[in-house]
Amino acid sequence: MKCYKAKDYKEMGRKAANIISAQIIMKPDCVLGLATGATPIGIYEQLIEWYRKSDLDFSEVITVNLDEYRGLPRSNEQSYYYFMRKNLFDHINILPENTHIPNGMEEDSEKACRDYSNIIRQIGGVDLQLLGLGHNGHIGFNEPDDAFEKEVHCVNLTESTIMANARYFSSQEEVPTKAYTMGIKTIMQARKIVVVVSGADKADILKEAFFGPVTPHIPASILQMHNDVIIVADEAAIEKVSDLI
Ligand code: GLP
Repeated sequence: MKCYKAKDYKEMGRKAANIISAQIIMKPDCVLGLATGATPIGIYEQLIEWYRKSDLDFSEVITVNLDEYRGLPRSNEQSYYYFMRKNLFDHINILPENTHIPNGMEEDSEKACRDYSNIIRQIGGVDLQLLGLGHNGHIGFNEPDDAFEKEVHCVNLTESTIMANARYFSSQEEVPTKAYTMGIKTIMQARKIVVVVSGADKADILKEAFFGPVTPHIPASILQMHNDVIIVADEAAIEKVSDLI
């Protein structure tokens, strides 16, 4: 596990974008696993800027997103489909057919998960997976549990995740309570993983997840077992572990 310290959110985004762009330059038809949430937005802004300067070409890149709310149509501004178009896909030359997100409108959960697992298998797995870190240690929507959920699955979101995501909806009642997400095994099969963490409110969970015991009660802790993980964190998030890195 490598840990890169950035002075602030902007620098964190630039450093992580550098790693992603190196991946695209080395393998133009790479498979990128993408994440939503506030943390990666700066990365996407940086990638768009480099694309506009002709430093990056997404024409062969394939993407597969971590998760999607169940029950939100793609046109809903809070769907992760909408988020990805708004924050990245609409601004770069990626082919829409090369972008993949779980189908949140598929009511048959087993089918939705099976279809998404098949897509990930067909594209040959993920070369580089980008991850944010939830306040309770979730990655994708893998919530704390007594065991690690392996494959793509339908999850009941925890109260704390629903509350954290309520800031994007007009009321807490509107926040979906279920989501489809890649499982821990799916994530761990990525060849390279980049975790981005920003802000003082993530300092405790960063320490617990990456410097504490590996436990399904903190899903991100499993990343300690992966052989190619890079954490890119800003000073506020990394503050409680600065003597450990
Ligand atoms: C959501 C997403 C996660 C993300 C997390 C943290 O729950 N499903 O993939 O990592 O939020 O989001 P933020 O970066 O806004 O703190």
